[in-house]
Amino acid sequence: MNSAEEVIVADLDYIVEKAGDELTRLAGKSVLITGGAGFLGYYLVQSVLHWNRRVSAEKKIRITVFDNYIRGRAGWIEAFGDSGALRLVQHDVARPLPEDVDDFQFIIHAASIASPTFYRRHPIETMDANVYGLRYLLDYCLRQKECGRAVEGFLFFSSSEIYGDPTPGNIPTPETYPGNVSCTGPRACYDESKRFGETLCVNFARVHGLPVRIVRPFNNYGPGLRLDDKRVIPDFARDVLNGDDIVIHSDGSPRRTFCYIADAVTGYYKALVNGRDGRAYNIGTDCPEISVAELAEKIGCLAAELFGYAGGIVHKGSRDSDYLTDNPQRRCPDITRARTELGYSPGIGLDEGLRRSLLWYAGNFKAEAI
Ligand SMILES: NC(=O)c1ccc[n+]([C@@H]2O[C@H](COP(=O)([O-])OP(=O)(O)OC[C@H]3O[C@@H](n4cnc5c(N)ncnc54)[C@H](O)[C@@H]3O)[C@@H](O)[C@H]2O)c1
Repeated sequence: MNSAEEVIVADLDYIVEKAGDELTRLAGKSVLITGGAGFLGYYLVQSVLHWNRRVSAEKKIRITVFDNYIRGRAGWIEAFGDSGALRLVQHDVARPLPEDVDDFQFIIHAASIASPTFYRRHPIETMDANVYGLRYLLDYCLRQKECGRAVEGFLFFSSSEIYGDPTPGNIPTPETYPGNVSCTGPRACYDESKRFGETLCVNFARVHGLPVRIVRPFNNYGPGLRLDDKRVIPDFARDVLNGDDIVIHSDGSPRRTFCYIADAVTGYYKALVNGRDGRAYNIGTDCPEISVAELAEKIGCLAAELFGYAGGIVHKGSRDSDYLTDNPQRRCPDITRARTELGYSPGIGLDEGLRRSLLWYAGNFKAEAI
């Protein structure tokens, strides 16, 4: 695999293989994905279209994407066009659903800015997408149930950030850890609205018997994650592709586990279809847990092999004064629950995932919208 195109085909084959049973359960159904033009949408949408190419007309999964493009328009999804199995609707989920909404059998609520830099710039919109946006969708599920057209699966995208900065004894972090979170700090618009979102989900499942499941993604990366999204891996990729030194905005000590997007997407489809109602699942990888400084080293070495990169590593404070405020020192999930209840098993290691990501970034470096 040596090009962005080959990476995408290999990843989509991998997802369709590993989540084949779950995609089969969606056959012939209508699925709504909110925020589908974003990073996770890149493979959530494309893996369904890839699966559709292999099945007969009546089995094709129909996808509707609601997105307000708050982070800019996404060229890749517009290139698929609003036709066939994919319907694109420009809609702000914080507003009531459009009048002519379809009967959806499955709903994935992923609309919410995920990058800390950008959710701090749009704190109200971030809270609204996770609270009002979620509520409108849950109310829709309730209405559908009452008129005998029940939604079969609903997935809410929460976040590992609901745990805040876990105490050392709670790493790897299990779903039962209640969190160590500021409710007024610069990240609170995100963390607390995800927490309240989970509370909404759990209670709609409990009180109304709705099939609502929750995922808590841990640091996904890979194709589809925009170079200008101000997350650490695209930041480093941009540096190496520009031939600049890799810039670290901290002392390099925070530690993370990074989960390649093709693995994470299999976890999301498994949770949507097989998750228990009112239950949250960590989706990520539990190893290796590495420091940001080690990550920079690794990306520099891979870029040297792939592109002859010869830059170094420098430490420079961010222009964003809140860049490090409430930034968790360590983040690593316990994924036992997803492994045992969903059959989730991430299989693409960090070196391979970073290699694929760098190839994808190299192939899309000049694209207007990535
Ligand atoms: N990527 C990760 O590692 C990660 C980690 C934790 C949680 N999550 C969650 O997963 C979901 C998707 O993350 P992502 O990385 O794809 O984010 P992203 O920022 O790349 O994409 C989010 C998409 O949602 C859309 N959106 C935002 N507000 C909206 C609104 N009010 N109405 C309609 N569309 C709206 C944006 O335009 C964008 O296309 C988010 O809920 C995020 O909080 C992601």
